[in-house]
Amino acid sequence: MKDYKRTLVTCALPYANGPVHIGHLAGAYIPGDIYVRFLRLRGEDVLFICGSDEHGVPITIKARKEGITPQDVVDRYHKIMKDAFTGLGINFDIYSRTTSKVHDKLASDFFRKLYDEGKFITKETEQFYDDEARTFLADRYIVGTCPKCGNPNAYGDQCEKCGSTLSPEELVNPRSALSGAAPRKVKTKHWYLPLDQYEPWLRDWILEQHKEWKANVYGQCKSWLDGGLQPRAVSRDLDWGVPVPVEGAEGKVLYVWFDAPIGYISNTKELLPESWEKWWKSEDTRLVHFIGKDNIVFHCIVFPSMLKAHGGYVLPDNVPSNEFLNLEGDKISTSRGWAVWVDEYERDFPGQEDVLRYMLTANAPETKDNDFTWKDFQSRNNSELVAVFGNFVNRAVVLTHKYFNGVVPRNAKPEAIDAETLAQILPCKEAMEKYIETFHFREALKEAMNMARIGNKYISDMEPWKVAKTDMDRTASILYTCLQICACLAVAFEPFTPFSAGKLRDMLHVSLNAGSDHRKGEGTPTENFYREGEGRALHTGEAPGYDIVLDWSSLGKGELLPAGHAIGEAELLFRKIEDAEVDAQIARLEAIKAEREKAEALKNIPPQKAEVSFDDFSAMDIRTATVLEAERVPKTDKLLKLTIDTGLDKRTIVSGIAEYYSPEDMLGKQICILANLAPRTIRGIESRGMILMAKQGDGSMRFITPAEVLANGSQVG
Ligand code: 2FM
Ligand code: ZN
Repeated sequence: MKDYKRTLVTCALPYANGPVHIGHLAGAYIPGDIYVRFLRLRGEDVLFICGSDEHGVPITIKARKEGITPQDVVDRYHKIMKDAFTGLGINFDIYSRTTSKVHDKLASDFFRKLYDEGKFITKETEQFYDDEARTFLADRYIVGTCPKCGNPNAYGDQCEKCGSTLSPEELVNPRSALSGAAPRKVKTKHWYLPLDQYEPWLRDWILEQHKEWKANVYGQCKSWLDGGLQPRAVSRDLDWGVPVPVEGAEGKVLYVWFDAPIGYISNTKELLPESWEKWWKSEDTRLVHFIGKDNIVFHCIVFPSMLKAHGGYVLPDNVPSNEFLNLEGDKISTSRGWAVWVDEYERDFPGQEDVLRYMLTANAPETKDNDFTWKDFQSRNNSELVAVFGNFVNRAVVLTHKYFNGVVPRNAKPEAIDAETLAQILPCKEAMEKYIETFHFREALKEAMNMARIGNKYISDMEPWKVAKTDMDRTASILYTCLQICACLAVAFEPFTPFSAGKLRDMLHVSLNAGSDHRKGEGTPTENFYREGEGRALHTGEAPGYDIVLDWSSLGKGELLPAGHAIGEAELLFRKIEDAEVDAQIARLEAIKAEREKAEALKNIPPQKAEVSFDDFSAMDIRTATVLEAERVPKTDKLLKLTIDTGLDKRTIVSGIAEYYSPEDMLGKQICILANLAPRTIRGIESRGMILMAKQGDGSMRFITPAEVLANGSQVG
């Protein structure tokens, strides 16, 4: 690997149209944060960049649905997302937004340079246009009948019922979602980045020079490249976004996937107006993008081609991407409400941020899609964090207070077994380094947990509470060893569970040298962010500034806490998660599923029947009528016998509606009937006519009633 002076880490800029959920966290944000914390612990110069992606069609759709402006939408979610990240200890150096002035200018200049240098091609295509709303229609804004499943409300890019990817041309009877009018095709000009021209370079750069990329990332790139790249439009006809900075381009904006990745650069520039170029234009910067798998093509193929076309910028050295996290066996979906939202988690499990971080790392979808279940969440908390890590630390600290007044005891009679125990730490540390450097965070976390297991097993085997009855020197030796391991845990867990690692350091009265801090500008000396609501113990000099300062290199060094060092009172690092807590979460999800199934079933309407002539229709004599008497037909579940005033006569109709209406429900109701249906005998009762019923998608039926009471016998037609 090249010699780098600094590492620039980015996490995908999330769309500001919904709160952050656990799928986002597991895909990109927790891994990114672990990586940054680890590099900082090792003393490397790191900048951690993120922000909201505030452009794009879905944001405009959400705004329209809610009757507010796109700016209102992004203002709301920018804050929610920013707070959610902070709440989980994911402390970006900057979390800005693509609606910022700095971004607007940088994205605009970026486009303009490529335009001036002839790096784009233009194409005139035909796009759907809504004459009533006087606007071009993005694919999402066109609805019509799905050619595959007949869903009458499919979108121009996708049918949400059968999951097919569609183009608006494929829809049957397309109509505008804005006005309902039938759209027509109108010519429009757009700028395209000719990705095909970059293909030979991309093949070499990715397939030859970056064979070390994760297999899922490399594999996806290879299949894109093998499929052949096409020019990609970088502009859109839309009124929300960065305007295309070219004369005659009124009403056009940069495509959101063109401007969003430039957001990484503009956010850096906003944070470090004087020195941002050092991070983006210097060959000794290493750029790493953390993303979810749906973003691979944009970060590995499109954005690098943009950077290459522009020139002067570093290219990503690695693009670690995770697969998807499912929830209780189902795909996470914002629109279907199937998610665990971070802000709700923080409300339901206050102070349990690390449990979620731990769970999402231990169960991360690093090589394949994975499932999050609440039972697993509970069991990992109770049997790993509480029973191993927390239990060990608690026993070590409590016993040190009990037997040695909270002072690290003097190891009066060192014995070989203790050195052997401590010697097991170093291999764990080295394995962690290897795993984190190659983005295998699950394995790295297992190694950290192994350190805790080593301690927990040691204290259980040694039983200092029994030894103390006869041999205080030996007790001192055991607890001395335990406390050294506790100190190691306070460092090793910092990337994964920073709140608990901070709490543990507080208990042990040690500080952490956690590396560079750029949040207040370049090279600002470290400050105390501890207990200031920004997450704990992130940077050097955390309060209250103990004399012992640990860092990554402390791990495996042997004595970290010298004899005589006074530690603080024991505090529980983790608490048990009770059945009732996870049962409530499961019940919430089950309710969502039941609601959804009901809504889905209701949408399940049959296709239109074959055409009938007007005469066929006129032959049917449909009338309003009132129910005078109603009773169940004996020995049946479904039938009601109704006496009806039809305006023409009083007659009996037998109807199969008893599943939906009781006799009492029907009494006095005005309904519609088919009066001239040939009489039939049902269960020995002559039925003359039929009650008109509407059958819903789930099979349930409701009778049809006039909007206001009419004279019986009024003809319907
Ligand atoms: O998938 C998403 O949420 C996109 N908003 C990610 C953009 S990443 C980058 F390009 F900004
Ligand atoms: Zn469909």
